[in-house]
Amino acid sequence: MSSKEIKSYKLLVIGSGPGGYVAAIRAAQLGLSCALVEKNDSVGGTCLNIGCIPSKALLDSSELYARLRGDGANGHDITSHGIKVGKLELDLKAMMVRKRQVVEKLTSGVGQLLKGNGVETFQGVGRLVGEGRVEVISGKGTKQTISAKNILLATGSVPATLPIFPIGKDGFVTSTEALSLESVPAKMVVIGAGAIGLELGSVWARLGAEVTVIELLDQILPGMDSEISRRLRSILGKQGLQIVTGTRVLEYEKAEKNKSEGVNLSAEGSAGKKQRFAADVVLVAVGRRPYTEGLDLTELGVMTEERTGRVVVDENYQTSIAGVYAIGDLIPGPMLAHKAEEEGMAVAEIVAGLPGEVNYDTIPSVVYTWPEVASVGKSEDQLKRDGVEYNKGSFPFRANGRALAMASEDGLVKILADKRTDRVLGVHIMGPWASDLISEAVTVMEFGGSAEDMARTVHAHPTLPEAVREAALDVGGRSIHVLSRKRG
Ligand code: NAI
Repeated sequence: MSSKEIKSYKLLVIGSGPGGYVAAIRAAQLGLSCALVEKNDSVGGTCLNIGCIPSKALLDSSELYARLRGDGANGHDITSHGIKVGKLELDLKAMMVRKRQVVEKLTSGVGQLLKGNGVETFQGVGRLVGEGRVEVISGKGTKQTISAKNILLATGSVPATLPIFPIGKDGFVTSTEALSLESVPAKMVVIGAGAIGLELGSVWARLGAEVTVIELLDQILPGMDSEISRRLRSILGKQGLQIVTGTRVLEYEKAEKNKSEGVNLSAEGSAGKKQRFAADVVLVAVGRRPYTEGLDLTELGVMTEERTGRVVVDENYQTSIAGVYAIGDLIPGPMLAHKAEEEGMAVAEIVAGLPGEVNYDTIPSVVYTWPEVASVGKSEDQLKRDGVEYNKGSFPFRANGRALAMASEDGLVKILADKRTDRVLGVHIMGPWASDLISEAVTVMEFGGSAEDMARTVHAHPTLPEAVREAALDVGGRSIHVLSRKRG
């Protein structure tokens, strides 16, 4: 079939996830003619369709269910509020419908924003066919070629898998399928205690599955401040998640021949201890890898890292080919939607001749378990490793009035500040709505602020953010609502 040639754009974005659609909107705001290519029928990419958003919908639904069940599994059940619930029933189908509706609302909203900003969207798989030229093959097989002065690759990532686990067979699933299970599995094994493993493990545990999380390394959320990681592990354990660290799954066999689901996994701990785990569903959550299929990067000679497959870019997000940019999960750095968004904004501004840049020192990361975990900047472990001298302040939520009123007092705020200058180097929060609380810390760090700045900022009472202020006061040894270790 011959390819129809279409008009030329200043910027053509391939991929409509948070990186791509934000870049397109920002480019349009700056007056650049801009088009977007998306292979799926709906825009929004992994995050909106099969990632951040549907998982948060299920986390919120399952959280409500766990509270109402009142069995204390989540440490803050409804019975402690003096509310008794009659017969509680789970309507998983309705829960999934609500999840879909949340996704549809957001994706159609983004579609309207793109349209309203004058961004033309083409449905199809984009392929680099020459300098400034992208061929788009639609789902129906029609081909059209689009010309653009600048091309932005924003095709994101897909779940990494392990060759021994056949996704789609014998109960092995990735996060995509784990967001749409038709029934609550009796036994679920999650391989990998990263954000996905802990979040989706929490969802299905709250809904009644017996969940075991198997992690290769010796802490959950490797890379996270180890004190927070340790405390979270203990809390999740009390909620019923069985967590096994330092353990590698070696192989599996079907539990019963001729049965479509149900496997026995054989695993080995670091000290050589052999273990077996039975599961109806096995969620493989061992990371994600860049998704470049169909782009034909080699056609133009766009360089990628051999080991990771990530696209190599310079400080302006330009690949090895002039005029071709890449952002988000495709390039090095944390695979986070908000990181991709910032990079998308930066590329649009760079293409428009402005100085677009991203501050990688202040990218927050959040894990939406309950309590939530959120952090920004350096962990205590990193500071020790780097030989940086620091002061530490912390404050437990059990001494915060609002957290007590909510019956959500598990967790703490920890602030790490440079010993010499008091500049905030890292903030780690485990507690109710830590995802929202971390914003204050990000803002302070963005402005190069100190723990003293946070301590002297008025915080409304009674609120959760007061815990952040108290931790900042504690850096100087003068927390009011706990007995401070230091005096100053
Ligand atoms: P991850 O890289 O965060 O965690 C994967 C975990 O699997 C690690 O702890 C790793 O040590 C472990 N692992 C690797 N191979 C293993 C094996 N053979 N056996 C047992 N454990 C093994 O990846 P995850 O959780 O799959 O998430 C993928 C990406 O998506 C990450 O970059 C994550 O940050 C991002 N994401 C972020 C979320 C958030 O911000 N709340 C939510 C979900 C995903």
